Formats: sequence, C-alpha cells, structure tokens
Amino acid sequence: MSLPVYFAPLQGLTEDAYRRSHHEICGGIAEYYTPFLRLEHGEIRKKDNLGIRPEFNLSIPLVIQVIARDADELEGLLSGIRRHQNSWTDRKVELFGEGVAVPVSWADATRVRVDINMGCPFPLQVDHGRGAGLLACPEKVEEICDVIRQHPEFDFSVKMRLGVQQPGEWEQILPILNATPLRHITLHPRVAKQMYKGLCDMTQLQTFAEVCKKPLVYNGDLLNMDDIHRIEEQFPMLAGVMIGRGLLARPTLAREYQTGISVDEKELISELLKLHESLYRYYASVIPGEDQLLCKLKPFWEYSERLIGRKPWKKIHKAGNMRNYLSAINELA
Ligand SMILES: Cc1cc2nc3c(=O)[nH]c(=O)nc-3n(C[C@H](O)[C@H](O)[C@H](O)COP(=O)(O)O)c2cc1C
Repeated sequence: MSLPVYFAPLQGLTEDAYRRSHHEICGGIAEYYTPFLRLEHGEIRKKDNLGIRPEFNLSIPLVIQVIARDADELEGLLSGIRRHQNSWTDRKVELFGEGVAVPVSWADATRVRVDINMGCPFPLQVDHGRGAGLLACPEKVEEICDVIRQHPEFDFSVKMRLGVQQPGEWEQILPILNATPLRHITLHPRVAKQMYKGLCDMTQLQTFAEVCKKPLVYNGDLLNMDDIHRIEEQFPMLAGVMIGRGLLARPTLAREYQTGISVDEKELISELLKLHESLYRYYASVIPGEDQLLCKLKPFWEYSERLIGRKPWKKIHKAGNMRNYLSAINELA
C-alpha cells in the first residue's frame, strides 16, 4: 500500500489558487498544507485570512498551518480560524443560495485540521521564537502543547526540523510532543541554519523515529518516484511523506506514485501548462497590474528548469513583460 502524500506548505506558491488548480488537474494529494498563517496586530494577517476562506477551498482536503511563538499567539490564530467556521453556514447561503448543495470545505469538518510550524528557518521568525526558534525553547513548546490539549475541537499536527544550530536539539522537544494529542509529526531532517540546502540527516531521522510515539511523516528532497520508494523502504515505520519543491517541479508526482502509472515528458509538460493556464486565468482576473501579475506567475517556474530545459527556463525568467512571458510559455507546448 502506498503512503499518503501531503503537499508541503510553500509561502507565496501553494496559495489557494494553486491548491485548487493542482487538486483539479493533477490530484494524488491526501492533504494540502497552507503556507503559515501569522498574526498581525492581534488578527490573522489579511492576506492569510483571505486564502483560507472556506469558499476558496471547496473540495480541498485542507490543513491550515499556523506559526506562533507562545500560547497567546496560538489562541489568537485559533480564534481567527473559528470565526471563519462559525460564519460559514450563513456565508454559504449568502454566496450560493438557500438549499443549494455546496461542495464540502474545511469549515464543515467537525475537527478542523491545524498544523503548527516548528521548522521555519528564516531569522525573521526564528529570532522572535517562532518556527524553528521554538526548538530552542522547550518551555514555549509546553505552553503551545497546553493550548493544543485545551482545544480538542481542532485536530493538530506539528511540522518541525532537527534543531536550530545542532541536529540533536529535537531531543528536548520530542518527549513534550509525545505527550500531546497530535495526528502526526512531520520531520524535515535539517537544522534551521541549513535552510533548504545541504544533506538531510538520515541518521538523526532514524533516531528520531525510534523515540517518536506519533505517526511520523518524512519531508525533504523527494523529487521522483525512486526517491519516494527508497525512503519508504529504508524507513518502513513512516506514516506518510510530505513533498514541496518536488511537486512544484513535477506536479503529477503524487498521482504517479499513488497509481503506479508514470507520465512521459510530453504529458508532464502538457499538464504543467494546464496548471499554469488555470493559475494565469485566475490571477489575471484578480491582479490589476501587468508587472504584479508577472511577479506572481514567474515563481511558478522556479523549480521547472530540469524539466523544461535551461534555455526556455531562462527565457521565462528574463521576460520583462507579459507578452514576452506568454510567448516563452507558448514555446513549451
Ligand atoms: C519558498 C518556500 C516557502 C516555504 N514556506 C513554508 C511555510 O509556509 N511553512 C512551512 O512549514 N514550510 C515552508 N517551507 C518549507 C517546505 O514546506 C518544505 O519543508 C521544504 O521545502 C522541504 O521539502 P521539499 O524538499 O519537499 O521541498 C517553504 C519552503 C520554500 C522553499
């Protein structure tokens, strides 16, 4: 049996439009994780709040990721999520009309899925005790776990790294997480100072798995089917895999793994173009300026160099206006 594949949260990339398009066109994903939501002046940041609107996430198996440095921040984020849920029944009628069957959204769930970020490596977060910064503060993790215990109406998971500076820092955190009701723990086996580069530490992953009492999800550098098969053979205790950049580069990867049917390069490019077309249509309808639209769309190709080739990739990235950009995309077909 294959493992569930979770789409990793990628700030600025896997927003609601991407999730909807990917789910419709490519599939194979058990859960989509939102990029982290954070508080700004005591409220969920406006842009983050918009992205989780139930009506923008219909039929999507969604996990809302939050980043918090302490109990107060987590409570603030959970209140914001609950506000969406409480108003959803009325909003549904407002948007779709009375008695109309509306596809299920995360806000219909009895227990909403929430993931807590304990892995973000950016100094802006870490230096303020958020993301991976929590790994150096067991007392703050205790506080956060107390909040988790007080809210059984949410179904929590944690996404974490091995540490901030040293790969053994998880040892003081994992016993606290082991004693907390969690759906699973996702481990990205790097330390924060590595950011997203350098080797994943598989020896630490093994030790972590031996101590971990929660279902364990692996995340890091899974780029193709062989990578997924290798990790599931090497670590048979895994309960799932989470993939980020590998799915951006090859959006069909999860479906290929689930069905055992690989797609050839031509099909893959055709699916990538369909996905892009869907994103382009959506963003062109909500982003007024051409420059802003270009800035929104270009990052979508960031990880596609290997698939589309260096020259077309450079052409896309160098395009200074929409006309040149779309002409570079059309040449891929
Ligand atoms: C541009 C970018 C944005 C990211 N945003 C988030 C985020 O919001 N929350 C999070 O937990 N991880 C975030 N990550 C980390 C990814 O979820 C993932 O852990 C990392 O990319 C390693 O997995 P991969 O090798 O499959 O991409 C981000 C990574 C990148 C490159």
